[in-house]
Amino acid sequence: MKVQTSPKKYIDLAKDVAKPIISKIGINNFKRIVKNFPELVLPWFAHSPLLSSIYYAFISSAFHREHYSVVYGKLKYAEELKLAKNSDFLLRRNIHRLEKGLLMRPRRDIFAKDYIEETVKSYKNALLANQNEVTTNSELQWAYDVLKQYFSIVGSEPIIDKARKIFFELAPLASNNQCVPYKRDLASSLTVDYEQFLALSYRRRSVRWYLQKPVPRDLIDNAIKAAALSPSACNRQPFEFRIFDEPELVQKVASIPMGTKGFNHNFPAIIVVVGKLRAYFSERDRHIIYIDASLASMSLMYAFESLGLSSCPIN
Ligand SMILES: Cc1cc2nc3c(=O)[nH]c(=O)nc-3n(C[C@H](O)[C@H](O)[C@H](O)COP(=O)(O)O)c2cc1C
Repeated sequence: MKVQTSPKKYIDLAKDVAKPIISKIGINNFKRIVKNFPELVLPWFAHSPLLSSIYYAFISSAFHREHYSVVYGKLKYAEELKLAKNSDFLLRRNIHRLEKGLLMRPRRDIFAKDYIEETVKSYKNALLANQNEVTTNSELQWAYDVLKQYFSIVGSEPIIDKARKIFFELAPLASNNQCVPYKRDLASSLTVDYEQFLALSYRRRSVRWYLQKPVPRDLIDNAIKAAALSPSACNRQPFEFRIFDEPELVQKVASIPMGTKGFNHNFPAIIVVVGKLRAYFSERDRHIIYIDASLASMSLMYAFESLGLSSCPIN
């Protein structure tokens, strides 16, 4: 359908048509009719983006929760930035952007001017928040290595020099430059060949009936270790896996989604994948939680299968 670019006449039309009907039958009856006969009203609301927004604002609540989550996520992102709180998502995204700048050919003498200050601040906050695990935190090490490399090659500009000063005043980490540039180990040959991968793909199926045995936690941890290596947009990793394996809790959680009726009582464990909209400043990114979490979930399920555990994705 062609999307109208001048919706005003349709809004006027909507008002003209709806007003007398609503005044005659009342708003609740109007809503009921709209709900019961969407095929009658949908062509009308589908005339323009604005009219469809009116439909979803006043007639259908189907997007209310999503709108709320997106707005709330934006607010949280802005708050973390403003209060200079520790923001993993901002730090990951910006370190990733710096990495890309470092890899450019030819590399520019000056880059990242518009975000280097917030990146260093965010790194400083992450250092403060993780003081007890500075030496074991691979994310901090990664951020440190990239920032150090960046400041060693970038030219001089007031804003960059200011950030450089803040960075070098912080305690240095024991860097061995492992993270810059990130090196793939291509020396040893890959032990998984295509036939083996295909066999794994055939083996994985959605399994709905399980042995009544606890799932060893270390196997779940191992699978998550593999899933955590999945790609994510700007490396934000905007989701987490929440693991439930206490029978009572499993039952409670398993009864929440649709699609588990009739077999959820036999789940020995369940993992909830939670997307974090607070990782984004813009609505345009709102679907990335689904993409990134799904990519990781696929890896998770393959990893489970390789460990002798079956799984089933649920709604
Ligand atoms: C996003 C998604 C949601 C799913 N939701 C359910 C569900 O709620 N209940 C269920 O029994 N299976 C669910 N499945 C499993 C699919 O039915 C299954 O993947 C599909 O039939 C293909 O079968 P296979 O996984 O054995 O290859 C879901 C799969 C995906 C990818």
